[in-house]
Amino acid sequence: MKNTPTLHTEHLVLDRFTLEDVPAVRDTLYTEAVCRNLFITPNKTTEEVTENIQWLLDGYETKEDFHQWAVRENSLCVGRVMLTVSRRFHTGTVAYYLAESTWGKGYMTEILKRVIDFCFDDLGLNRVEADHFARNPASGRVMEKAGMIKEGVLRQKYCKDGEFLDAVQYAILKSDRN
Ligand SMILES: CC(C)(COP(=O)(O)OP(=O)(O)OC[C@H]1O[C@@H](n2cnc3c(N)ncnc32)[C@H](O)[C@@H]1OP(=O)(O)O)[C@@H](O)C(=O)NCCC(=O)NCCS
Repeated sequence: MKNTPTLHTEHLVLDRFTLEDVPAVRDTLYTEAVCRNLFITPNKTTEEVTENIQWLLDGYETKEDFHQWAVRENSLCVGRVMLTVSRRFHTGTVAYYLAESTWGKGYMTEILKRVIDFCFDDLGLNRVEADHFARNPASGRVMEKAGMIKEGVLRQKYCKDGEFLDAVQYAILKSDRN
């Protein structure tokens, strides 16, 4: 399977990042609001964003199972989806974020459904999982709407800015789909 193939949803296109995305990524994805529930430092510089996208461009060419999508609305990058694949365990782990201007339109739900289909139908995986900070229930709702099942709360799994945070674990199995 080609790394990060283009995927379509009803309203959006998921494809590879390019260096032309640097301004949109810098200005809309590294805000305080977007980064609050992620392990990403906000307010990145043009140089830092360029370096990160260059890392993605290298990964597309050199790594195996390297899936890192830019989410596009009318060609403009409004989000990012990361899929980490374990061939050993036949598992994919998904993480995502969208620019604040797009929240609440059902976008992440349609994206997650499409990525789950990709994991099962194109990559042949058995399990797709994701987790979210307990303080970020909107993300749990997205997982639920995409067909994932809540498996439990991992108490104080993470530490962010000196604060221990509970994580809520969700997953969908190939056998859950029918
Ligand atoms: C979390 C995030 C991905 C959601 O994306 P989105 O496109 O707005 O999500 P959707 O519109 O598909 O669905 C959001 C759902 O959460 C619900 N929701 C929103 N705020 C909520 C809250 N505080 N508590 C419970 N549910 C909430 C919405 O009502 C909606 O459910 P509904 O359709 O049943 O009404 C987006 O807000 C985001 O990128 N946030 C910043 C980064 C982030 O937190 N990423 C996830 C890390 S695990």
